[in-house]
Amino acid sequence: MKQKLLVTGGAGFIGSNFIRYVQNVSPQTEIINLDLLTYAGSLENLSNLPHPSNHQFIAGNICDQTLIEQTLQENNINTIVHFAAESHVDRSLEGPSAFIETNIVGTFSLLEAARKVWLVEKLFPLNDVLFHHISTDEVYGTLGPNDPAFQETTPYAPNSPYAASKASSDHLVRSYNHSFGLPITISNCSNNYGPYQFPEKLIPLMILNALTGKPLPIYGDGMQIRDWLYVEDHCEAIWTIIQNGSVGESYNIGGGNQPPNIEIVKKICGILDERDLPNTPHEKLITYVKDRPGHDRRYAMNIEKIHQELGWEPKHDLANGLRDTVDWYLDNTDWLNAIIKEKDYQQWVEINYQQRGRA
Ligand code: NAD
Ligand code: DAU
Repeated sequence: MKQKLLVTGGAGFIGSNFIRYVQNVSPQTEIINLDLLTYAGSLENLSNLPHPSNHQFIAGNICDQTLIEQTLQENNINTIVHFAAESHVDRSLEGPSAFIETNIVGTFSLLEAARKVWLVEKLFPLNDVLFHHISTDEVYGTLGPNDPAFQETTPYAPNSPYAASKASSDHLVRSYNHSFGLPITISNCSNNYGPYQFPEKLIPLMILNALTGKPLPIYGDGMQIRDWLYVEDHCEAIWTIIQNGSVGESYNIGGGNQPPNIEIVKKICGILDERDLPNTPHEKLITYVKDRPGHDRRYAMNIEKIHQELGWEPKHDLANGLRDTVDWYLDNTDWLNAIIKEKDYQQWVEINYQQRGRA
């Protein structure tokens, strides 16, 4: 049966990249994109879609169960791809309640809507529906330097309110499969980077600050390790799971690129230096600041399951991915400028960085 997608959070970083990816690999797929357009979402992220007539935007909150039920019924949706979330760890430390509301209550409301429309009203045969939930490696907690990478069987041990809210939503999704038979899949992915990432996250923030001659704030000693993945590879992995994944299963996704944060920032500086810009050499802007409370030291993903079962592996290496990302930001300064003019953005920068001082 032809898939008709409800993408939640499709105006954000990964969601908008996913919609563009699906339109490239499967132009006939119809997509309804439901997004609240919080500070992190923007319709600018969806400009120049290859097939705009197959994309419909609905401004709405995933916590509004009635709206979700109507959207599923009126549009004959048989596949939900759930990205919508509060996604920034530092914001979850400043104000966790939005994370509980969107990530936990919002996921619950989507699951209830899907249960009602797909399992009670039986809009489609059960074999034709799927609820795919996008999650994070942060649910597994933190690794020591010699610990093996996270597997799907690693016990959950979330350390921030963000990670705990995502872990909670994963458990809810799993329980709707186990208790009610709702067809679900879950993916847990590592740190993404690439075009359209909001400049509060490490890589776009460093590019923006370097371009504007501001300090490049490194938390703590800068030796924390993330498992970086180019966003298009994540989109391909999600699409692969939706097409061929086993119902009820979760899949780890990661990039295997693991230099510490300080090395990532130095690589970005090096790429910018080659571009003959003001503020060269950009490394002189590096500034060590007070660490993030409870900062996870290391993440690494074991991707054997998705590789063995579905044949997926990342296509982009870090050197090329970072280069493409820096070039995208250099080519899209209007997009960046629109964000940094927003009061909300300026306030966030003040809240998060003003009080950190130097380490
Ligand atoms: P993002 O913050 O860029 O985008 C989130 C989107 O969700 C925004 O468009 C926002 O408007 C929307 N949204 C927020 N609250 C909503 C609500 N109540 N109702 C409807 N829409 C709402 O996030 P992202 O980085 O694109 O992450 C997308 C998903 O992927 C999240 O679930 C996140 O936990 C997960 N994830 C992210 C990464 C990463 O590195 N960015 C890695 C692994 C998993
Ligand atoms: O691991 C997957 C997760 O990756 C996703 O689930 C989250 O949605 C996403 O935000 C991301 O979380 P992180 O906390 O790892 O990403 P962030 O870009 O905020 O930080 C990456 C690393 O860089 C982390 O070790 C903290 C550090 N950092 C971050 C910022 C913003 C700094 O040193 N300085 C900074 O200014």
